[in-house]
Amino acid sequence: MTTIGTPLSPSATKVMLLGSGELGKEVLIALQRLGVETMAVDRYDHAPGQQLAHHARTITMSDPVQLKALIEAERPHLVVPEIEAIATPMLEELEAAGVVRVIPTARAARLTMDREGIRRLAAETLGLPTSPYKFCDSLAELQAAIGGGVGYPCVVKPVMSSSGKGQSKIDGPADVQKAWDYAMAGGRVGPGRVIVEGFIDFDYEITQLTVRALGAGGAVETHFCEPIGHVQVSGDYVESWQPHRMTPAALAESRRVAKAVTDNLGGQGLFGVELFVKGDQVWFSEVSPRPHDTGMVTMITQWQNEFELHARAILGLPVDTTLKSPGASAVIYGGLDAQGIAFDGVDEAMRVPNSDIRLFGKPESFVKRRMGVALVHDADVEVARTQAKRAAGLVKPRVA
Ligand SMILES: Nc1ncnc2c1ncn2[C@@H]1O[C@H](COP(=O)(O)OP(=O)(O)OP(=O)(O)O)[C@@H](O)[C@H]1O
Ligand SMILES: [Mg+2]
Repeated sequence: MTTIGTPLSPSATKVMLLGSGELGKEVLIALQRLGVETMAVDRYDHAPGQQLAHHARTITMSDPVQLKALIEAERPHLVVPEIEAIATPMLEELEAAGVVRVIPTARAARLTMDREGIRRLAAETLGLPTSPYKFCDSLAELQAAIGGGVGYPCVVKPVMSSSGKGQSKIDGPADVQKAWDYAMAGGRVGPGRVIVEGFIDFDYEITQLTVRALGAGGAVETHFCEPIGHVQVSGDYVESWQPHRMTPAALAESRRVAKAVTDNLGGQGLFGVELFVKGDQVWFSEVSPRPHDTGMVTMITQWQNEFELHARAILGLPVDTTLKSPGASAVIYGGLDAQGIAFDGVDEAMRVPNSDIRLFGKPESFVKRRMGVALVHDADVEVARTQAKRAAGLVKPRVA
């Protein structure tokens, strides 16, 4: 049985979000609608989720000392990581000591915080199909890995990075040095370790949102959303749509892979499983043990969007992954480097039929920073894609 208390009272059900960007903000909204007391943590002040949670804290989440001090002082019932760059070994320690429950599990947060833990789990422990790969700590090792089987073309990524940072494709020997240097400049922390992966010439890629939630009998059940198609430019998502049409065999294989990975990671919550598909063949790429950026489309396509599904699943509540309407999302970028920018044309964007616009409220804009998203539903996914991109383009960021 799930019991929820009253916020700001001794009975409160308290949830701490580690990372309070646009995805965390929506999880916080979903939690608040259920009467949960929320705390939004981020590395900078006035992060989107901090603007609406009951409590806001700014710390360096990759620092185990700061993270431990905050969790011990606040004693939330649940800690919900929303980003990868967190001192996850400390979360494992606190979870093992019974101080807190980490969503979905502290082990899942640790395995997915860099590319190595999750890739080795998927390929070597679970035997799932992935691109051929090697981990390398130097340019010489990178050259040897490519020559020794990974081959050309291939993709180099810092093990600690996201949103395509430091990632590049290598078409031949002339590109290797440049890719190594770029990875070293783009990694999240410390001296560089990279993964080099054989390039998969996929027909399309999808995100298979997968929810582990309690059923009526109290056991975890796995639910799948309709597949989400997306386009990535330099490793960053620019548009997504749902459903993406797939062959029955490719869909079944996608769900087999998604279930194998999420069963192993365990716990309760929503996962974004990234898969490459060619014909009926499916490769596992990576997984987020939390809502996925491409899943923002579900804010207009599902009865319960991915953030609501996550909130419900972690609280032990039932979920419904049914599609409401096909639809699409398109990212609104900052387009300029400035603080406190303004957005013109939100009205025109909203006049696009069946559309909605979300502005995340980020205090600082960068040219390639995601500042908002346009959403469109339409019975025809292709119409939704065109219209979502049109709506996104009508929003004009400018210096205020
Ligand atoms: N081995 C590969 N073969 C072909 N394309 C790839 C390969 N690896 C990555 N890509 C492309 O680059 C995109 C980003 O890669 P990946 O998801 O590994 O990086 P990321 O930095 O974690 O991105 P994000 O954080 O946005 O998910 C993929 O969605 C895919 O389009
Ligand atoms: Mg990815």
